Amino acid sequence: LNLTVGSGGGNTTSPLQYGVMFEDINHSGDGGIYAELIQNRAFQGSPVFPSNLSAWSPVNGASLSLKNLSEPLSSALPTSMNVATSGSTGKVGFTNSGWWGIDVKVQPYNGSFWVKGAYNGSFTVSLVSNLTNETFGSLTVGHGSTANQWTQYNYTLTPTVAAPNSNNSFELTFDAAGASDGSLDFNLISLFPPTYKNRPNGMRIDLMEALAGLNPSFLRLPGGNNLEGNDPPYRWIWNQTIGPLTDRPGRPGTWGYENTDGLGLIEYMWWCQDLGMEPILAVWSGLYLDGTLISNDSLEAYVQDSLNELEFLMGSTSTTYGALRARLGYPDPFPINYVEVGNEDNLNNGSATYSAYRFPDFYYAIKSAYPNITVIASTVQVDPWPAAGAAGDYHQYTRPDQFVSQFNFFDNFTSEHPTLIGEYANIQPNIPAGGGANFSVPRSPWPFWIGSVAEAVFLLGAERNADKIIGASYAPTLQNLNSYEWAPDLISFTADPAQDVLSTSWHMISLLSGTRIAETLPVVRGEVFGPAYYVAGVGGSGERILKTAVYNSSDEVAVGVAFEGVGQGATASLTVLTAPDPYSYNSVGSDVVSSSNTTITAGAGGVFSFSLPNLSVSVLVVEGG
Ligand code: AHR
Repeated sequence: LNLTVGSGGGNTTSPLQYGVMFEDINHSGDGGIYAELIQNRAFQGSPVFPSNLSAWSPVNGASLSLKNLSEPLSSALPTSMNVATSGSTGKVGFTNSGWWGIDVKVQPYNGSFWVKGAYNGSFTVSLVSNLTNETFGSLTVGHGSTANQWTQYNYTLTPTVAAPNSNNSFELTFDAAGASDGSLDFNLISLFPPTYKNRPNGMRIDLMEALAGLNPSFLRLPGGNNLEGNDPPYRWIWNQTIGPLTDRPGRPGTWGYENTDGLGLIEYMWWCQDLGMEPILAVWSGLYLDGTLISNDSLEAYVQDSLNELEFLMGSTSTTYGALRARLGYPDPFPINYVEVGNEDNLNNGSATYSAYRFPDFYYAIKSAYPNITVIASTVQVDPWPAAGAAGDYHQYTRPDQFVSQFNFFDNFTSEHPTLIGEYANIQPNIPAGGGANFSVPRSPWPFWIGSVAEAVFLLGAERNADKIIGASYAPTLQNLNSYEWAPDLISFTADPAQDVLSTSWHMISLLSGTRIAETLPVVRGEVFGPAYYVAGVGGSGERILKTAVYNSSDEVAVGVAFEGVGQGATASLTVLTAPDPYSYNSVGSDVVSSSNTTITAGAGGVFSFSLPNLSVSVLVVEGG
């Protein structure tokens, strides 16, 4: 491969390019990146997933039961846990097993609980081993409670000893003799470890750092299918996810569990701020996953709801919803520049109505209130598009050969309707050969290397079409290995941060996203694609860049590349990712991806010469421009 890269005449890339897609799937939110350690902390339930005592166990003969008291903690959290002493003496109470364990370190844990009932005494909170009963930290909290009202206790518990593993529970006990009516009621029992950037109600540090390693520029939220809801009325509703946790009822998520909505709209905005990401805010488009559609006559209320949400985020504090934001403690607006209308509205019989009235109604309403917002359809095509500038969303779950065959896919797209690649993932091997993904057979449990290389080929094809592509996000992003609905995933985890798995695709994206091309450059001589697929360009500091993925080569590919304007003696840094086997994958405790870094000096004619192995992803960056 002998290439000469021109010095101008390409296209400016989107500032977003690489980002993150988030929805609560695989306990990625509750039990995942949302750092709350207590599972089922407020006994939230619905007709779909009724309230239950999952994760709670009695201590010392106490009896636990759910109660809907006449004086609930709040109308949003009507169900609480009654803890009856049941004739026991001494300390009684309950444990919570966390999200399949609790990571215990010598660090401050911020806890809180609400209690109601006649009680004269204190409470003891502890972090204890499930295996040995060892107590790693314990604290006495509070001075009783009363029968007529709910009392909140806040505390900070710092264990004195780190636990050797995450097989631990949270425990709360009280003195049976002090509970004069024989029981106490508890609700919203919460415990947070230190969070990313110390945000209250914040995020897991290890998982935020794993995302930061992707150098992401956008966050697509809050779905995916979880935006849509399985059936009426269970769509994601923005104003039920804001305010004090006592005001958030939660909802039955799409993926088989109740969402607490502790990770709500404001927390999403903080998340964006903390990782420097642009929100791509999805609003509900009038389609449930069971195919229930909102008619043209009834859609207006939902369009207005999306405008209310935007006013809440961006409006001045003199507007109705901007004032609500300020009342909740956030006078400064959260700017929104991208709104996506729905999710995969081409499915579930949604196409015709989406083109006919759903997308246009949202589009015109949002554009008329916020002309600078880019409004993105959840489909790759709307017929007809309401206006130039309206964007689309392309999702692709397929197999390695199919990804590679899509290297040219975006060449015939148009910059008039730019495209977000809102979800993509290699989900199955090439065997048996031919065709796309087969959803009637299992997907691969983990991303694997040949799939990650094929994704890279696809992404380089997107990078070459810089003026047409808004950005790309792998999906799903996060997976709790103890309870999940969808594999493969980009980042997998348990309660123990030491077990985090950064997949082969994570490594590939981290490299491509960390070496951004600001403007593509044309290859003026020698352009041929396969088995090497590449894109050339110039980075933000004027550095020339060549990104290459090699797929299905019988041999190493010898590359000679010259950049017009770069002469003999210039140096470049070459990073090459490889793995030992096409189907090798990362899992708990193992990382198969090797990264090598070498310095290459340009020879005669300014040619950088190097060779790239089969199934490699590489980036050459010329030093000093
Ligand atoms: O990423 C998993 C699911 O795949 C998303 O929720 C949906 O948009 C897509 O079909």
